[in-house]
Amino acid sequence: MTDVSPIEFHDLDLDKIKELAGRICVVMTPDGKMGPAARRVNRLTRGKLTRVAQEKPFLALKEGEGLTMHYPSGMAAESLLIVKLSRNPTFEAARLAGAEIAKFRTPAALTVLTMSQTKLAEIAFGLALRSYEFIAHRTGEQIPLGDVTISCTKPEERAEKYAPLAAVAEGVFFTRDLVNEPANILTTTEFADRLLALKDTGLKVSVLEEKDMEKLGMGALLGVGQGSVMPSKIVVMEWNGGGDEAPFAFVGKGVTFDTGGVSLKPAAGMEDMTMDMGGAGTVAGVMKSLALRKAKANVVGLVGLVENMPDGNAQRPGDVVTSMKGDTIEVINTDAEGRLVLADVIWYAQEKFKPTGLINLATLTGAVIIALGHDHTGVFSNNDALCKDFMKAANAEGEGAWRLPLAPAYDKLLKSRIADMKNIGGRAAGSITAAQFIQRFVKDDQPWIHLDIAGTALLAADSDLAPKGATGWGVRSLDRLIRDKYEPK
Ligand code: BES
Ligand code: MN
Ligand code: ZN
Repeated sequence: MTDVSPIEFHDLDLDKIKELAGRICVVMTPDGKMGPAARRVNRLTRGKLTRVAQEKPFLALKEGEGLTMHYPSGMAAESLLIVKLSRNPTFEAARLAGAEIAKFRTPAALTVLTMSQTKLAEIAFGLALRSYEFIAHRTGEQIPLGDVTISCTKPEERAEKYAPLAAVAEGVFFTRDLVNEPANILTTTEFADRLLALKDTGLKVSVLEEKDMEKLGMGALLGVGQGSVMPSKIVVMEWNGGGDEAPFAFVGKGVTFDTGGVSLKPAAGMEDMTMDMGGAGTVAGVMKSLALRKAKANVVGLVGLVENMPDGNAQRPGDVVTSMKGDTIEVINTDAEGRLVLADVIWYAQEKFKPTGLINLATLTGAVIIALGHDHTGVFSNNDALCKDFMKAANAEGEGAWRLPLAPAYDKLLKSRIADMKNIGGRAAGSITAAQFIQRFVKDDQPWIHLDIAGTALLAADSDLAPKGATGWGVRSLDRLIRDKYEPK
């Protein structure tokens, strides 16, 4: 498990700056203003910061970016990072500054000399998130990154403000670890075990096994897993931090590997399908965050864990399965498996918990990548109020999200010749017909959002707050949605 670096907040001691070993970061405002710490560094280096502030490389920096100076004269430090940041930075600039500082880290200790500006907790959050590294499968000695200290006024107050954000960072790291993990290690059984271990955080965790799902009539989910030697499972995580009101529900697609089944995917790029449990990974990360920061709300997270493999027992194209709801589905393409899994888990969630709202997440369609690329998750909803609240939370967190339509015309494309519906609509509007399919398993009065995260769960390049690989997209937005809308102020 990848640990979130602890970040200490300490009182600023100006007289110690000269002797500080390791790496140091100072901040300067865009117009070259310095706080007491930066002024001290400026004096020790005989006015280097004053000169830097007037020159092009610094002037060209965006807020939150910085430049490095090695072996600053007059100081014991090995390297100095000068970050451009206002005294009252935007939320976004503060997190970017934190990410910039994260990229400056090495095994040496790091001291961040702040201007005691506002949003220090956001700087620390950006620093924590961008310090992620997935090294579980590297052999040889791994030298950990050095300790981080943030020097500021009122350190206790700052640490208190940062604590809930550190809990969210823990959740994001949990999601990223799950999504980055290969499928031979993160089997359905291993996934369930890692979720059961969340009991330590105070979550109630239970597992539905195949025999339980058979009794419940979950033919849609079970059909997907029947070609795998790994057992299908549903894991239910409950956080009861509120009163006795009905919970909010999160549901995640957890296909630990998606070969496509008998409708086999092409070889090129198939290795990326280790991330096809991204929806489940995000649900798990949010539940961990909520538990760690002891959220004052009732929330339940459900994940459907299956492996989509082609063997002698695998589901065939043309098979008809019966869902827990009772509707029959003609499986035209075994590679459209995520919606089959979600159909049964979403129905179960509604029957069992009568949630006030339900949001499902899934790496559901390649088509959403064609539509929106890698910067926005596809958002589908039957409820404008809930959708507006979610979009507001995503926007505040800087997690891209874009709403796409649902409409009866698309639903018509799911008509089957022999069953109640088929599991694909055709090439046109592939993400929308997938959403329409899911909506058939959402009760009419159930406020619901479907998030298609196929393009955002895993990136091939570094992003602002994550190195390449799993992003943890959604953990922050969903945690914020619960905080802003479902917890007492
Ligand atoms: N897991 C895939 C979708 C996916 C594609 C996720 C690329 C991440 C990156 C999903 O199960 C799938 O195979 N969808 C098919 C649906 C089609 C058969 C209607 C697709 O998108 O091609
Ligand atoms: Mn598939
Ligand atoms: Zn899939």
